[in-house]
Order: sequence, then C-alpha cells, then structure tokens
Amino acid sequence: MVFHIISAVPALLESPLSHSILQRARNKGLLDIKIYDLHDYGVGSQKQIDDYQFGGGAGMVMMVEPLYNCIQDIFSKYGKMKVMYVTPDGQTYKQQLANEWSMEESFIIICGHYKGIDQRVRDHLVDIEVSIGDFVLSGGELAALILVDSIARLIPGVLNDASSALTDSFQDNLLAPPVYTRPANFKEWKVPEVLLSGHDAKISAWRENKALESTQSRRPDLLND
Ligand code: ADE
Repeated sequence: MVFHIISAVPALLESPLSHSILQRARNKGLLDIKIYDLHDYGVGSQKQIDDYQFGGGAGMVMMVEPLYNCIQDIFSKYGKMKVMYVTPDGQTYKQQLANEWSMEESFIIICGHYKGIDQRVRDHLVDIEVSIGDFVLSGGELAALILVDSIARLIPGVLNDASSALTDSFQDNLLAPPVYTRPANFKEWKVPEVLLSGHDAKISAWRENKALESTQSRRPDLLND
C-alpha cells in the first residue's frame, strides 16, 4: 500500500513513520510512504503556498494552485487514486473505516494548516474528508499519521501475528479484554486463574465476557451501534 502525503511541514511526519511497526512494514515492502513538501509546488519565486482569505478574516488559506499541481504530479506518475483531506469538519474516523481503507492500494492525504485549504480543492479534488475527533489540531500531520498507522497495521503481514489486529478494541464493536504477562503473582497481585489453566475454550469465554463487561461500563454507546 502506498500513502502519498502532502504537507507544508514534512519534518513533522518523519520520525513516527521511521520506527517500529511502520518502519518494518516499509522495509518489508508492504508499505510505501511518499512525502511531498508543498513548497516544492509553491507559486512564483517565493514558492508561495498560502494567502489571505477573500472577504477578510483572520488566518491564511492554503492556495488551490500548489495543491492542484502536487496532486496532478502524483496522478501523472502513479495513476489516479482517492484523495483524502484531514480536517476537523470531516466524517469522524472509526475502526470500520480503517478496515475498509486498508484494502485500497494507495491514497493521497492532504494535511491542512492555518485556516484550512481553499474550498475549490475540496470541491474538485478531494474524495474523502476525515476528522480524527472533535478537537482542532495545529495542522493535519498528526491526523495523517494516525490514519497511516491505524490502516497500515491491518495490512496482511504488517503485524507478526495476523490475529492480533482482529482482537483489537473496536473490532466487533467491543473494547479489548485485559491482558497480563509474567510474573503470575507480583506482590500478591495475581493473574486470573483461568488464564493460567491452559483451557482454550474457558479462556476465550472469559475474554469475551471481560470485553463485554468493559464495553458496557466504559462505552455502552458501542453496543447500540
Ligand atoms: N486537522 C486539524 N484538526 C483535525 C482533526 N481533528 N482531525 C483531522 N484533521 C485535523
């Protein structure tokens, strides 16, 4: 899977994409991430990417032309693909969307800054607008990283244990059950006996029950979905 990420501050993206699971996925050739500095597509000798908004008001707006040129450049090299814009007024991101999008071959993600991007980019070039929650970040980069991380870990082969992603919280609309590791007894804080029993059916039943209990008490809304 290939993510083409367009950013005015590409340095913000580098470290999280270059460690741990994502870096291993890149090394294995399961994930490719191409980062585009919007300034390279800026207008005029100043390589301008933003300007004052028409009608007045605080905050700069990212211009249509650099974004258009960058997207066309990607299309001409790699073919057409879905264009996502991360924005607080997009549809709210959920695990189900991560599952769905993990089956795509490639995406362009536009990271906004300042007051956002010229509406004409949204009207004519963007296919999907997504928000990672009801709060406002200083820029779209952190949101883009969240999308890439949560989608990439679902690509077959990215996690060592293929079943691991299926038992995450939110798969099946349930939160994940508690987990324990050695030692089995730490200062008399004991691991539940059933997990030490070696009885697979009982362990599964215990986990299902705990997942349900936890969802009922912390996120009952998920059970109504
Ligand atoms: N950019 C700024 N805030 C955002 C949010 N909540 N979700 C996605 N992109 C954003």
